[in-house]
Amino acid sequence: MNVLESLPHAALQQWITDMATQCQPESIHLCDGSDAEYNALCQQLVEKGTFIRLNPAKRPNSFACFSDPSDVARVEDRTYICSLRKEDAGPTNNWVHPKDMKNILTPLLAGCMKGRTMYVIPFSMGPIGSALSHIGVQITDSEYVVINMKIMTRMGQQALNVLGDSGDFVKCVHTVGAPLAAGAQDSKWPCNPTVKYIVHYPEERSIVSYGSGYGGNALLGKKCFALRIASSMASEEGWLAEHMLILGAESPKGEKTYIAAAFPSACGKTNFAMLIPPKSFKGWKITTVGDDIAWLKPREDGRLYAINPEAGYFGVAPGTNEKTNPNAMTTIRANTIFTNVAITADNDVWWEGMTKNVPDGMTDWHGKPYDKASGKPAAHPNARFTAPAYQNPVIDPRWEDPNGVRIRAFIMGGRRSTTVPLVYQAFNWNFGVYMGATMGSETTAAAFGEVGKVRRDPFAMLPFCGYHMADYFNHWLNFGRNLQSPPRLFSVNWFRKDENGAFLWPGFGDNMRVLKWVIERVRGRACAVESPIGWMPRYENMDWTGSDFTPQQFEQLMTIDREEWKNELVGHQELFERMYDKLPKEFYFMRQLLLSSLWRSPEQWSMEAEEA
Ligand code: GTP
Ligand code: SPV
Ligand code: MN
Repeated sequence: MNVLESLPHAALQQWITDMATQCQPESIHLCDGSDAEYNALCQQLVEKGTFIRLNPAKRPNSFACFSDPSDVARVEDRTYICSLRKEDAGPTNNWVHPKDMKNILTPLLAGCMKGRTMYVIPFSMGPIGSALSHIGVQITDSEYVVINMKIMTRMGQQALNVLGDSGDFVKCVHTVGAPLAAGAQDSKWPCNPTVKYIVHYPEERSIVSYGSGYGGNALLGKKCFALRIASSMASEEGWLAEHMLILGAESPKGEKTYIAAAFPSACGKTNFAMLIPPKSFKGWKITTVGDDIAWLKPREDGRLYAINPEAGYFGVAPGTNEKTNPNAMTTIRANTIFTNVAITADNDVWWEGMTKNVPDGMTDWHGKPYDKASGKPAAHPNARFTAPAYQNPVIDPRWEDPNGVRIRAFIMGGRRSTTVPLVYQAFNWNFGVYMGATMGSETTAAAFGEVGKVRRDPFAMLPFCGYHMADYFNHWLNFGRNLQSPPRLFSVNWFRKDENGAFLWPGFGDNMRVLKWVIERVRGRACAVESPIGWMPRYENMDWTGSDFTPQQFEQLMTIDREEWKNELVGHQELFERMYDKLPKEFYFMRQLLLSSLWRSPEQWSMEAEEA
């Protein structure tokens, strides 16, 4: 235990000692965050067979690993918000009283780290020393987690320095839930295939994660802390913790606009954050502040500033290629961990959508020779890369600015094959909050369960809001009242399809056309027409240089079908009924107003309407 004696923080020392007593690890390792420590742990996993060292000529200092097939995504049905009162967790979260949950977890944690090392990872979410940052300390028995936390957070001694002898920290306990008997052979991906718990105690600001080694279940700084616990802190303290990317857009004149955008898991945040404008958009440059999480706080000037609490990307691999996201491809050229991708014959990585041709002689994500004729994917649909943010060739120069960047617009969007047009602007802040609250999206492989079903995913926060969703809506409504010239709110949908199931919108780089309209709207320079649901660009209000997209295609993409929208409003009502006890009264009125607008004759809101 003498590693702990050097710790000046008595409460931290006590907590670690208590956890060690409970979990009974073989040894304790206090992480310093050094490269030497990182390299040694990677080597250890290579020797154990968990990591495959990739071809150093093609993918220097990079590794691949395959998880247990039972451990490939977040487990939303095993995720709990254990507030003291059930009504504080709300109807969209699983809830168990903290006392009862501790009665479940205490026996599970007893001896859970037997035969393993207990790593102690002090980490900062947000730039070291920023007033917007917060410190966490994660205990884990997984080397994979330590390695990933080194990429995803600022960890080790630098975080301990911020803590000093009495600083506050979020307590994060993680175990794979697979104690090792003396002399037993460890599995390559230890986890508990049957028992998993991802538990949050918002009042204590602590987290316990049992049984999974994967992503958001195990890298506790990410969804557990930076979203679930942080959203609860933010509602008490008057800020926002959001599932949003942050990007900077620089015009040819050098005018810089920062925006934040909420899309559900695997719906295009990383792509949008690293967007490369079409060639015809000469002089425009998009830079990345963050690709997954934003912490936003108003400053004395009444404006809203945002930081990215993370230091790396845990990005979706399938679909990423030199066309869809060349900047991501550059980011992952070295020093990257790949989870559940396929491995090529020459020891590089591959996934569906990376190249047109499927290479011969691959190993699939089960670690077996890949049978091309099987019809099964070689990489898991939720295969991911973990890469340091500083390797992003378009990283924003201010991505670590401790003051954050000023946000001028929020863009929100789900994956909707019907109903929702390419883009529209909410009438005002309140309608924008309504728009975010009622967002729907087709589910993806990022969470365990059925894929492709539309569900309401308010602000892309359904799996990540650490308190009552309706309280969250109220927080957003209130928040806007206290801002000077609040950001404008927009809805986008890149995923609308035609009757044959083909995407109507080219997406990716072409999303710049939408972004430019958003920026011009925010700066009062772009025209729009009024529709029943918000302000919309006409074809001629958007920049089509270098595109052959026709007004007819645009019309199809922007159509607001009255019957579809009446149905959509039924979906809103269903969401509202689930949380009627705390739902903002404004929402009933706004729904009613939308409904009455839809009853107007279509001619009144055709694209010919007067501009504003
Ligand atoms: P998390 O990391 O899970 O929170 O998600 P993310 O939102 O960062 O996901 P990511 O950007 O990696 O989304 C990847 C998926 O979105 C892939 O299937 C992409 O092909 C798809 N995608 C991204 N942008 C577009 C687009 O403009 N059009 C279409 N059709 N698909 C897109
Ligand atoms: C998401 O699912 O939204 C992710 C991946 O960003 S994970 O960290 O696994 O939650
Ligand atoms: Mn995410």
